Amino acid sequence: MRIAATADLHCGVNDRDRIRERLGSVNGEADVLVLAGDLTNFGQPAELDVLISQLLRVRIPIISVLGNHDFESGQHQELLRMLREVGIKTLDGEPYVRDGVGFAGVKGFCGGFDRHELTAFGEPEIKAFVQAGVQESLHLERALSLLQTEKRVVVLHYAPICDTITGEPKEIAPFLGNSRLSDVCDRFEATVVFHGHAHHGKPVGKTRGGVPVYNVAQPVLLQEKPGQFYRVVDI
Ligand SMILES: [Fe+2]
Ligand SMILES: [Fe+2]
Repeated sequence: MRIAATADLHCGVNDRDRIRERLGSVNGEADVLVLAGDLTNFGQPAELDVLISQLLRVRIPIISVLGNHDFESGQHQELLRMLREVGIKTLDGEPYVRDGVGFAGVKGFCGGFDRHELTAFGEPEIKAFVQAGVQESLHLERALSLLQTEKRVVVLHYAPICDTITGEPKEIAPFLGNSRLSDVCDRFEATVVFHGHAHHGKPVGKTRGGVPVYNVAQPVLLQEKPGQFYRVVDI
């Protein structure tokens, strides 16, 4: 299966032409399209309407997760409904099998990496913040545990490893993802992981267990290769 993956399209109401240009040739180049969150700028249905009008031109299956920007207007449930209505499989912790390949997707959350990961200690606000990340990892774990397929693709918005956020200011690292996500990917021996969110990160990395991780945020893809609007990975 050839997977075309991209993230952080950040579609606004005036972005019809930009999106058309960026996804126009994907039909012939891949078997599925993965969108790893931040589909819109401010999480408004009018923005998603514009994106969907262009995604309807894509004839291969589309699998997505929402990103933090898609939550900005508090209308993420409406966005999920709109995506599902047009057949764009938007994952939030449920397993999905397409042509014999398993997909597990969650947004993920902040929290930090490796020995610098924040722990649930102290004020209730810190505990709630950490818990939000733990919850996302548990949803990912559940989805992966339900997949019986030989190949398992993980789709996240937040980063699961430090490697693919290299290039971002180190001060914001804890807000770009957390290591619990990659621990789950290792435990369930994921085949490949895609994420976005870290616009100034690095395109390729690996979990501690050796699972390949691709940061497919649009700015990262374009920095790597001008005109590269999605990365095609063959699994
Ligand atoms: Fe983004
Ligand atoms: Fe984001």
